Amino acid sequence: MSFPFQIQSYKEYVSAYKKSVEEPDTFWNEIASHFLWRKQPTKTLQWNFIEPSVKWFEDGELNITENCIDRHLVDKADQTAIIWEPNDPAEKNRKISYQELHIEVCAMATVLRNHGIKKGDRVCIYMGMVPELAFAVLACARIGAIHSVIFGGFSAQSIADRIQDAGASAVITCDGAFRGGKDIPLKSLVDEALIHCTTVKKVFLHQRTGIPVVINEITDVFLDTEIKNIKEGGHIIYDAEAMKAEDPLFILYTSGSTGKPKGVVHSCAGYMIYTTYAFVNVFQYQPDHIHFCTADIGWVTGHSYILYGPLCAGVTTLMFEGIPTWPDAGRFWNIVDKYKVNVLYTAPTAIRSLMLAGTEPLKNKDLSSLKVLGTVGEPINEEAWHWYDENIGKKKCPIVDTWWQTETGGVLISNLAGITPARPTYATLPMPGVQPILVNDQGELIEENNVNGNLCIRFPWPSILRTTYGDHERCKQNYFSTYPGLYFTGDGAFRDENGFYRITGRVDDVLNVSGHRIGTAEVENAINMHPDVVESAVVGFPHDIKGQGIYAFVICDNELSEELDTIRKNIHDTVSKIIGPFAKPDKIQLVKGLPKTRSGKIMRRILRKIAEGALDNVGDTTTLLDPGVVEEIKKGRI
Ligand code: PRX
Repeated sequence: MSFPFQIQSYKEYVSAYKKSVEEPDTFWNEIASHFLWRKQPTKTLQWNFIEPSVKWFEDGELNITENCIDRHLVDKADQTAIIWEPNDPAEKNRKISYQELHIEVCAMATVLRNHGIKKGDRVCIYMGMVPELAFAVLACARIGAIHSVIFGGFSAQSIADRIQDAGASAVITCDGAFRGGKDIPLKSLVDEALIHCTTVKKVFLHQRTGIPVVINEITDVFLDTEIKNIKEGGHIIYDAEAMKAEDPLFILYTSGSTGKPKGVVHSCAGYMIYTTYAFVNVFQYQPDHIHFCTADIGWVTGHSYILYGPLCAGVTTLMFEGIPTWPDAGRFWNIVDKYKVNVLYTAPTAIRSLMLAGTEPLKNKDLSSLKVLGTVGEPINEEAWHWYDENIGKKKCPIVDTWWQTETGGVLISNLAGITPARPTYATLPMPGVQPILVNDQGELIEENNVNGNLCIRFPWPSILRTTYGDHERCKQNYFSTYPGLYFTGDGAFRDENGFYRITGRVDDVLNVSGHRIGTAEVENAINMHPDVVESAVVGFPHDIKGQGIYAFVICDNELSEELDTIRKNIHDTVSKIIGPFAKPDKIQLVKGLPKTRSGKIMRRILRKIAEGALDNVGDTTTLLDPGVVEEIKKGRI
């Protein structure tokens, strides 16, 4: 059985694409009609990219969790909705049916309601990859509270920044999280963050690791006990809040070119419709599919392709608590074998690190259940693509290279598994409804093929971001002002003779480290917090596993108070404390000066070349205030 709007052939793709461009309202109305609405919309799209303002299905009402859960109770109540594989393979796994998911989500929603959390309130979620995280996200959506999930690798400072920016009134967290051999103390990081946050009235605590925690009698709520009591007392409230189509569903913070992360806001209806549409088509949905997306729910991939997309479509989604290399590099393959996974969706960085482990971990693993492979988050190199194709897909599984962003909500450019052609390292063709173009630096449209350009989108799709939380001007400046009238992605792309797109990477000051998006300015701000640091400049450099590594050029006080190695270590500690351990620079070079123009602007292009090792090719240095610094930096390159 296929989904009603599932594209079944290349010919159908071409005609769906054509219709989506020529009659977008008719095209999306038909797709929207397959979802569960409280009130059917009569309007389709109103938009302009100047303000910007985008509204889809504005007068419709719905609740996304009724689409993810209640709708399936009719025909698949007993089907597993979520398989949860724990960090430690010796621990018992969990299988949660759609019926059980309904109960769990409604029970958690009841607890939130009982503590006064209501529609429109912002709730930050800082948890490990446990089923309760899925319940928490869906419980917020159930009652209309706007969830803002914070990746478990962020520091107390980053949590505080996000809580404050969102004005969150509650936090849902765990005592700790297991990740590989580590036990990360989440609650104590939340406690530290809350010292500076005045808006938070309640902290809901799920106990996962048993690590001791400090309990604040006024704010803290034992989530597990309250859920148990509600279930046993038969007091679950099953009602879902009726949400307007354009009400915000969630905020997700992401890095841009400035030092401060932006709260990307997604709406209820448009997000649901587009992510589900893309899920069904890109991965070529089958009702019995077991879908394993290896992302963390702290990032957009986990929101759209562990939770909302697969659950709206009604498949079985697999949530994995651990990491690919623990207890050994065969972990993903064990999981695929154990659950007979059909769709595996992961990041190039994971593929590269598993590739490094060789084929030994694949021995005696039955991967024959796999039908579709996917990649996301960063450009995939040819070598990794072929390794994935040969060793994991055994050359029988189409690989979808899915390009998209936190801001786009769902996949925008990708081949459709087995339906449209693949080309290694190419995301290939746009999804129906998506109109990508390339422009040059002056914003002029590039019409020919076999060219590079700046990737923009010229027409709204339903899950485009609506604003950046609390600061619409920032949304406008960031995405809609560089090339007026267009959504600018921040990515560069090459378009080949077939019109296939190959994403070449960011053209702004955003790094992509192991698929994690990090602003260079954020890392610089963090480094500059170190008392000995006068100034710093951060650039990316090619890294075999991470895709990009972080290279920091740092000027310290003349009178160094510490040894150089200690300074390097302290800078690492500072970055871990301000952002999180994943943003630690791979290389720190102490320098006496930075290459600056006469107006004081750092010439990053030169630093990038040095970091890459292209020492003879740093380009023109004549406009620099002091060209001599370049030679000094080259000499000290690490
Ligand atoms: O540079 C692109 C890269 O990841 C960026 C978006 O990062 P984030 O918002 O964290 O979302 C990641 C997961 C959707 C993009 O601007 N990117 C994403 N997918 C690809 C990619 N680069 C190349 N190929 C992809 N398939």
